[in-house]
Amino acid sequence: AAAQRQQRATLTEVLARVAAAYGDELRKSPRAIAYLKKRGVSGVVAKRYGLGYAPEGWHKLAGVFAHYDDPLLEEAGLVIVQPEDHKRYDRFRDRVMFPIRNVKGECIGFGGRVLGDEKPKYLNSPETPVFHKGRELYGLFEARSAIREHGYALVTEGYMDVVALAQLGFPNAVATLGTACTPEHVQKLLRFTDAVVFSFDGDAAGRRAARKALDAALPHAQDTRSFKFLFLPPEHDPDSFIRAWGRDAFARHIGDAVPLSRFLLDAASEGCDLGTPEGRAQMTHHARPLWSALPEGLLKRQLLGEIAGLAQIDTAELSEFWAQAQPPAP
Ligand code: UTP
Ligand code: MN
Ligand code: MN
Ligand code: MN
Ligand code: MN
Repeated sequence: AAAQRQQRATLTEVLARVAAAYGDELRKSPRAIAYLKKRGVSGVVAKRYGLGYAPEGWHKLAGVFAHYDDPLLEEAGLVIVQPEDHKRYDRFRDRVMFPIRNVKGECIGFGGRVLGDEKPKYLNSPETPVFHKGRELYGLFEARSAIREHGYALVTEGYMDVVALAQLGFPNAVATLGTACTPEHVQKLLRFTDAVVFSFDGDAAGRRAARKALDAALPHAQDTRSFKFLFLPPEHDPDSFIRAWGRDAFARHIGDAVPLSRFLLDAASEGCDLGTPEGRAQMTHHARPLWSALPEGLLKRQLLGEIAGLAQIDTAELSEFWAQAQPPAP
């Protein structure tokens, strides 16, 4: 265990050094600076989030570390070793870099964006002993006091969403790291607040992400907590929306965000014609696993009544039916 702690400390030291080096490279790169300017990112916000630039070239980190073949660079996810010939090269090249910090403020990984249209658009650190995508939220370290002050957290999909929202008046935003929102993500946020607003992209992928976030939130939806879902127009994400329409328009969308109860009922009813007994029965079957995932409480009781209402059956009857009938195979 002591050895493991030592290794973690060393990995975060390596990552901190690289974050600082990428920061220096950004100051030296007119191209990267121009890219961030074009996206409207201010110097203040770039500094707050420690943005950087990984320069072009295959072995730039050899200029940062005396021993480029140090296995720690590979373990930190910074250097890739080719399995065939054991040749090494830098993972991040010619990308704008977003350091990912844990709640202690230590750099545990990176996301890197191409400056143009190349693929992949973003490259992220791999899973390492210090970095677990399903647990970490981009921007949480920077946002944590604002989350407490504002009384809620905004959860987005992307690095640029966090940066743009912070710059334009919502410093309480975080992002999942190119993965679905997990119950662990939600758990982590609940250490700072009991209110979460999910704001994903307006496209089909964003709607799927919202559905995943619902699943992640359900087991945490105690009566004293608030989970809401904000749906943007299909062509927008939080970054593009707030830059196009401004702070107040985004605040109005937050005001109109759909509570978890509404989203649950909508998700259960999706594709069901509630005007027919078949559709109502289908909706009831869709609702069951969602409802079952809720913790005991008044919200759960009320939702039973709502589902029964939509199903046009008695609440007690639905309760009894669910107690007796096995859930259908998925
Ligand atoms: P988006 O495609 O919505 O990108 O992916 P974005 O954040 O709006 O990017 P910009 O505005 O073009 O810069 C949302 C998130 O999914 C992850 C990233 O975390 C990204 O921010 N992602 C996306 C990847 O990890 N890899 C990719 O190739 C694309
Ligand atoms: Mn691990
Ligand atoms: Mn998207
Ligand atoms: Mn975007
Ligand atoms: Mn996006």
